[in-house]
Amino acid sequence: MTAQVRTAIFPVAGLGTRFLPATKATPKELLPVIDTPLIQYAIDEAREAGVERMVFVSHPSKSAIERHVLDDADLRAELQARGKAALAEELAETALCPVEDDVVFVMQDEPLGLGHAVLCARDHVLPGPVAVILPDDLILGRPGALSEMIAAHARGDRGHLVATMTVPREETRKYGILSVTGRDGPLLLADGMVEKPEPADAPSAEAVVGRYILDPAIFEALATQTPGAGGEIQLTDAIARGAGTIGMAGFRFSGRRFDCGSKAGMLSATLHLAAQDPDYADVLAEHGLRSEHVRAA
Ligand code: UTP
Repeated sequence: MTAQVRTAIFPVAGLGTRFLPATKATPKELLPVIDTPLIQYAIDEAREAGVERMVFVSHPSKSAIERHVLDDADLRAELQARGKAALAEELAETALCPVEDDVVFVMQDEPLGLGHAVLCARDHVLPGPVAVILPDDLILGRPGALSEMIAAHARGDRGHLVATMTVPREETRKYGILSVTGRDGPLLLADGMVEKPEPADAPSAEAVVGRYILDPAIFEALATQTPGAGGEIQLTDAIARGAGTIGMAGFRFSGRRFDCGSKAGMLSATLHLAAQDPDYADVLAEHGLRSEHVRAA
């Protein structure tokens, strides 16, 4: 029987160097797409997927994330007093309440890599497989990517499950790339993956993006993982090491993914969402952009 995914880990302790100077004082995960911070999209996706516990791996300098994520009763009272009850209600719905929700914050004091960040969550996860969501990979769509992956995982445990999308060959050097051995619907069976290969060396064009369902054995693998690319403890290295024993598969989610850790990706996500909202039609028109134009970009 496949064990239930009860915990989602949100690694949010990184430096966000690609987005400087915006991230000098503001955590990357709080940068908004129009009016909603990236972390909020990730929380909403995890909630929709029905996870019980959310573990945020943050950094002491990024306490603003905690302030955004948790309910702020004083702010809501202030809004109520100013006659903005609907706004107060909206904030209450999106925030996590430490009393009603199962929320844990744990610190990664040094950004030693994504794998190390996930390892920091080890003592705080519930039994069974865990989900990992990278908030800077925004995936828009219904159902959410995490819901789709949890459903696929429940249909049959194939070991670690990683979200994948097909990328242009010349972009393989930006991603972990799956070594694909077969296909089964949205599942890509794989016997490993290669971190950031040159296009000529890439085993496929199936790139890993920021959603994972990981067998709990990942924590032991991470504890013994030596630093990889950039001198960081890489999550993909630990997943790939388990491919032979634990097993692994890619999952082709149905939504659209934006790399909001990059300025171009953030702009693309903003234009995409603006194009869906009639409120912004005039603004887009002012810049010579029409909805069809933006969607095709
Ligand atoms: P990224 O590699 O995209 O984030 O990690 P980064 O290192 O902050 O960004 P750049 O490359 O310098 O611009 C993906 C996610 O993993 C977290 C980040 O906060 C981000 O949400 N992360 C990364 C950690 O929590 N700890 C780390 O040591 C590294």
